[in-house]
Amino acid sequence: MKKILITGGAGFIGSHVVRLFVNKYPKYQIYNLDALTYAGNLFNLKDVENSPNYHFIKADIVDGERMMQLFDQHGFDSVIHLAAESHVDRSITNPMEFIMTNIVGTVNLLNAAKHYWKNDFEGKRFYHISTDEVYGSLGATGFFTESTSYDPHSPYSASKASSDHLVRAYHDTYKLPMVISNCSNNYGPNQFPEKLIPLFINNIRNNKPLPVYGKGENIRDWLYVVDHARAIDVIFHKGNDGQTYNIGGHNEWTNIDLIKLMCKVMDEKLGRAEGTSEKLISYVKDRAGHDLRYAIDSTKLQRELSWVPSLQFEEGIRLTIDWYLNNQEWLDEVTSGNYLKYYEKQYEER
Ligand code: NAD
Ligand code: DAU
Repeated sequence: MKKILITGGAGFIGSHVVRLFVNKYPKYQIYNLDALTYAGNLFNLKDVENSPNYHFIKADIVDGERMMQLFDQHGFDSVIHLAAESHVDRSITNPMEFIMTNIVGTVNLLNAAKHYWKNDFEGKRFYHISTDEVYGSLGATGFFTESTSYDPHSPYSASKASSDHLVRAYHDTYKLPMVISNCSNNYGPNQFPEKLIPLFINNIRNNKPLPVYGKGENIRDWLYVVDHARAIDVIFHKGNDGQTYNIGGHNEWTNIDLIKLMCKVMDEKLGRAEGTSEKLISYVKDRAGHDLRYAIDSTKLQRELSWVPSLQFEEGIRLTIDWYLNNQEWLDEVTSGNYLKYYEKQYEER
């Protein structure tokens, strides 16, 4: 019986991973550790909160002593580490939070695992969830592979790159068993509406401007969040020790084409005349250091572990829009208070 510590399980991707593991593996004990920052929302896990194999721990990974004490108390044999500050724009205005959570927090977890697993690494695994942003920015052609050199540009991606290096260093220096995966942009239910897709769905619904950075020509490679959770399941169970796996759906969109598609689908769903929502598009000052293009080559994961994405994007984006339209209570909850203040500050000077 495994005792898995999942960090950041109240967030967007983490909640999908927790749900998958709690439901699919009733014999595993799943410990969701989350500080419940603005991005953490236990409402995301209402459907599994009473499951006998689910446990919630409110804790901050920056608190190293607490991490040691929790390993001692619960005897985790595996870690799936998702907790992070994850929004690039916030990292530009406040880098230090990213350094603390993404770097110091990761080292605290590595130290706790190393200390409590001592030299008995049999059946142990530290799985670090990372991002394709560590590889930097592509031109018009080419893909990120697992051997692409790191070249991060934002405080967020630099902090994630640093944490990846530290996880590898603990493997090479102390033999700590680990795997890392680097995934492209996720979309789907429960994503905090500061990120492009949920922010724009919410704004279209409320007839608010759609702030497109620069010319909208930047390209992202979008993957449905449940497919990311499925990949995490496969890599956790079958990934080879010390390895890195890239995860992505070969699904590249310029921001402006994606936004126009969302406008079109929302016009249909909201019963608006075609072209109505596109009028909300408003070009604003570009993001500082804005990476032009991300595109993942996930051949290794597909070939070695037989993972393939299950959903086509046109279907996924429709499911996603439906979810936000049908979960207005969730949106109202997360867009009130703290978030509104952030939103005003973020866009006031644009
Ligand atoms: P998110 O911002 O939605 O959730 C992050 C979670 O971590 C929240 O529940 C938050 O409360 C928690 N958290 C933050 N600081 C913490 C701390 N100090 N201690 C404990 N918990 C803390 O993020 P997400 O989009 O779900 O991303 C999850 C992970 O996946 C991150 O590591 C991110 O870098 C990575 N990732 C995200 C994407 C994406 O498109 N969203 C793509 C690739 C990789
Ligand atoms: O690639 C993986 C990464 O994807 C993850 O590691 C990050 O945690 C996640 O936030 C995401 O980063 P991006 O910066 O790509 O996502 P975001 O949704 O913030 O922006 C997507 C694109 O849309 C990007 O080119 C910036 C642009 N954008 C974003 C916002 C919020 C706009 O034009 N306007 C906006 O208001």
